[in-house]
Amino acid sequence: MEKVHEGITHAPGALPIIGHLLPLLRDPLHFLNTLPSYGDLVQIRLGQQTAVVVCSPELVQQVLLQDRTYDKGGPIIERVGNALGDGIASCPHSAHRRLRRSLQPAFSRTCLRDYAAIMTEQIDTLTTSWSDGRTVDVSAQMYALASRTIARTLFTAEAARPAVDTVAACLPDIFRGIYQQAVLPPLLRRLPLPSNLRYERARNRAWAAVSKTISLYRQDGKNHGDMLSMLLNTHDDAGGALSDAEIHAQIMTLLVAGIDTTAVALTWAVHLLCQHPDVQERLRTETAQVLGTRTATWDDLPRLDLAGRVITEALRLYPPGWIFTRTTTTGARLADAMIPPETTLIYSPYLMHHDERFNPRPSSFDPDRWLPEQEHVRGAFIPFGGGARKCIGDNYAMTLATLALSTIVAQWRLSSGDHQLPHIEPRVTLTPHGVQVRVECLQRVPD
Ligand code: HEM
Repeated sequence: MEKVHEGITHAPGALPIIGHLLPLLRDPLHFLNTLPSYGDLVQIRLGQQTAVVVCSPELVQQVLLQDRTYDKGGPIIERVGNALGDGIASCPHSAHRRLRRSLQPAFSRTCLRDYAAIMTEQIDTLTTSWSDGRTVDVSAQMYALASRTIARTLFTAEAARPAVDTVAACLPDIFRGIYQQAVLPPLLRRLPLPSNLRYERARNRAWAAVSKTISLYRQDGKNHGDMLSMLLNTHDDAGGALSDAEIHAQIMTLLVAGIDTTAVALTWAVHLLCQHPDVQERLRTETAQVLGTRTATWDDLPRLDLAGRVITEALRLYPPGWIFTRTTTTGARLADAMIPPETTLIYSPYLMHHDERFNPRPSSFDPDRWLPEQEHVRGAFIPFGGGARKCIGDNYAMTLATLALSTIVAQWRLSSGDHQLPHIEPRVTLTPHGVQVRVECLQRVPD
């Protein structure tokens, strides 16, 4: 195998001009999984640009922990910045600490407990809208649940509802657009292709809706007790308030980072329970003991053990955020390799979770691998990333997913005739389509 630099191997199969574009667009998951066999650091080509894929848990940890050297950057981050503004997820290291500190209080345990009440209410609304024997489109239902819940946590004001609906409707085109724009060469990105136009339109509509909501909040001047009110009243260490542009970018980022990821995780978990009725029954035994048939609340969480492990295993098999990039700000040594400044590095939770050296029987769905006595390779399970840029909403997502999944299983028997893997669309998230599930009521629905 050709060595590009000492310690970095060149992935085979690059075509002239387009490089590895075809496998990255057609079957990126399979392509990624082939890379560890070439080495711990493997160079791939996206058109004329190159990127180094980091294939060992130890090296991924080094990249994630040294966030000054391996800063946010690379094609996906550029597109995210373009779509959302320079929010916390895409800003460089130099701006990150200030933005992270301004958001962190909104994710404290006390706040999470308050959000759990909104979650329970929204889960209740969802599950009481189902009827016995109906087939539900799980992807759509979980998307509706996550978008309503997260949007309600961000803006509780009645006047913000239309904006919430607009943003939720635009997000699928934004997600699809960000991934396509990231892998397309710059020339194709600028052409008026239908996909490019759809993306631009969706981005502009969402952008305008969030701007309008911020103006509404500024005008009424009230504290609505939600995340937007908190951001409007935040002051940084130097006593400066966040600008409207910064608040705008934070809100867009939270919507984009939180909704699809959580919806996708829940969709996969429901799909997996349909494919594994034995696990579904075990989970029902747990929920019967803890909940009976009522909707789960914050206080139930410590006893919803298996539900948490099912979600964790779904995140391992199908990590919603499957590919992320970093850029070196300076020359850096990684294992035996000298990485030049401004090199794009890729880390992939999907690749890591499916490497059998670090996750035995990687394709098996086995929630019990997460029992406390089981051992794991450090850094081999990274659905929420790591280091200073680790997901700020990890506990939020786990809380919503655990409450939702256990309530659904407590109240409904889930089955799908289809044993095929749903069609996976690798957008910014690993999105499953066509998860149709028949729901059978386990309790009398009030007339
Ligand atoms: C299952 C659901 C979720 C998954 C799998 C997930 C995954 C991730 C990952 C892997 C990162 C790190 C990205 C990187 O290294 O470049 C991240 C960052 C982030 N996530 Fe999540 N996320 C989820 C839910 C949420 C939720 C519910 C929110 C907020 C409501 C959220 C907000 C964020 C933010 C703001 C960042 C950027 C953090 C920073 O750079 O300081 N995420 N997420």
